[in-house]
Amino acid sequence: KTEGSLESIMNVLINLFTSAIKSACPEINDPPVVVALSGNNPKFGDYQCNSAMALANLYKQQGQKVVPRDIGQKIMDNCQPHPLIAKLEVAGPGFINIFLNKSFILSSISSIFKNGVKPPSLEKKLKVLVDFSSPNIAKEMHVGHLRSTIIGDSICRLLEYLGHNVMRINHVGDWGTQFGMLIAHLQDKFPNYAVESPPIGDLQAFYKEAKKRFDDDEEFKKRAYASVVKLQSFEPEHTQAWNLICDVSRKEFQKIYDRLDIKLMERGESFYQTRMEKIVTFLADGGYLQEDEGRKIMWGGATIPLTIVKSDGAYTYDTSDMAAIRQRIEEEKVDWVIYVTDAGQATHFQAIFGCAQKAGILDNTKHRADHVGFGVVLGEDKKKFKTRSGDTVRLLDLLEEGLKRSLDKLVEKERDKVLNKDELKSAQESVAYGCIKYADLSHNRNHEYVFSFDKMLDDKGNTAVYLLYAYTRIKSIARNAKFTPDNIKELSKTYQVSLEHEKEWKLGKVLVRFPDVLLKITVDLCMHHLCEYVYEIATTFTEFYDSCYCIERNASGEIVSTNIGRILLAEATAMILDKCFNILGLKPVSKM
Ligand code: ARG
Repeated sequence: KTEGSLESIMNVLINLFTSAIKSACPEINDPPVVVALSGNNPKFGDYQCNSAMALANLYKQQGQKVVPRDIGQKIMDNCQPHPLIAKLEVAGPGFINIFLNKSFILSSISSIFKNGVKPPSLEKKLKVLVDFSSPNIAKEMHVGHLRSTIIGDSICRLLEYLGHNVMRINHVGDWGTQFGMLIAHLQDKFPNYAVESPPIGDLQAFYKEAKKRFDDDEEFKKRAYASVVKLQSFEPEHTQAWNLICDVSRKEFQKIYDRLDIKLMERGESFYQTRMEKIVTFLADGGYLQEDEGRKIMWGGATIPLTIVKSDGAYTYDTSDMAAIRQRIEEEKVDWVIYVTDAGQATHFQAIFGCAQKAGILDNTKHRADHVGFGVVLGEDKKKFKTRSGDTVRLLDLLEEGLKRSLDKLVEKERDKVLNKDELKSAQESVAYGCIKYADLSHNRNHEYVFSFDKMLDDKGNTAVYLLYAYTRIKSIARNAKFTPDNIKELSKTYQVSLEHEKEWKLGKVLVRFPDVLLKITVDLCMHHLCEYVYEIATTFTEFYDSCYCIERNASGEIVSTNIGRILLAEATAMILDKCFNILGLKPVSKM
């Protein structure tokens, strides 16, 4: 265990019960160890071990009749004492109810004043490559890419916090056949491009012009095709033209990333050009490619094959992804690759992972590969997200509208009267970008979701606005008691967090689940678990705050008594919330 790291309660319990079950049931190989939270009734303890029923079934299969409750009793008798556990109890058909020990939780929470909120210790530090955002040059960066950007960034933040070595890769579409027509059009429209940067303001319009010529003009079409070939063989003038075009898009994308505070390293499809040539030879030599009406295809892992070489000899999206996965595993030596795209690409990635495995690039015993898919973004009319006039929504416009709406909200709550100009601006940005990110992350990514500013700016329910307010309220408790962060740190050395009252104890037990929530997300990469947890913290805190005073004032408003243990509990809550917000990419402000 790393010094100061927070312990996963689930892991402690699973270890304890694994050995207890092994001693209690030596006849069963690999016995099932099922430990879960108990739910809301305090009668059933805090956690439960539910293995007895499954074990009884396994005994039955071996021809032995055993009563589950007796197995439960036996497991309990074989459970080693541990400071985490106050009491065990067999209940009903054989559940073991587990009651946590206050002093253990107390020292766990107290440790964060000393060490900060440290992540649970890692079994192994992994090198992880997260491929996310990945818009296409000269085409619109749309809400789908925004989803990928937000989810991908949050996954990176989580893995970075846990201590992994994370590469944040922007796999931009910068190498498609569309570059032929773009370059040919650039050469006609701005013949001076080599000496003077062309003033392309609107790349989308430029793309449309080029596309129109491509469709209407045979001569132009031929030149466009010839340009692609020259570009892909790195002819210098074409490379320069291509770079100029990419730069225009790059600057637009960067505006979005800056606003949302998202770091990415650009490594587009073009990076893999020579590696694509090599992988084609590699796959052909291995005998993995099949002829199919002039195409070269590869089967593996999915219901559709990959197209590795088109009939005209060109490479495809599939080719670039095969080259990319090989580069990632063999050159970068990553342990884990994660691709964040719309769910529509699920089959594509099944095929990529399947073929990479077949060709000996990916080894499931050594590497982990995940496609993190997500559903489409819908408008409030439940149709594809579009502007009123039916165009795709420009992301910058969307962020601008978020800013405007968030300011309206703050003014509606009369915050402009209490906050100074800078505070108001921070709050405005925190709410605007926070609500857009949080709305996305709090929905199960596998489902489609309805983009609604009204819903995300609601101050009730599981929304960023509600949570950011809750956070500022919690932060204000110590401030109102006239404690500075230094005071808090000092006090935490002599005073203990209070866990006596039923509501304090309930909050304490929620707080110490933080490591388990994170570890669970590393399994399914669903960030909404963290949002649900944050919401649970906020609501449990409210219950505590409603029934436990932290500061008492007399009729004239003077402080007559402060409950330091409770103020410490509030501060610990804020520290954990702060970490959660950080992982979700939200920026809490202390005044709002
Ligand atoms: N550019 C693609 C798109 O817009 C996403 C790329 C995802 N990454 C990858 N390695 N295929 O759909």
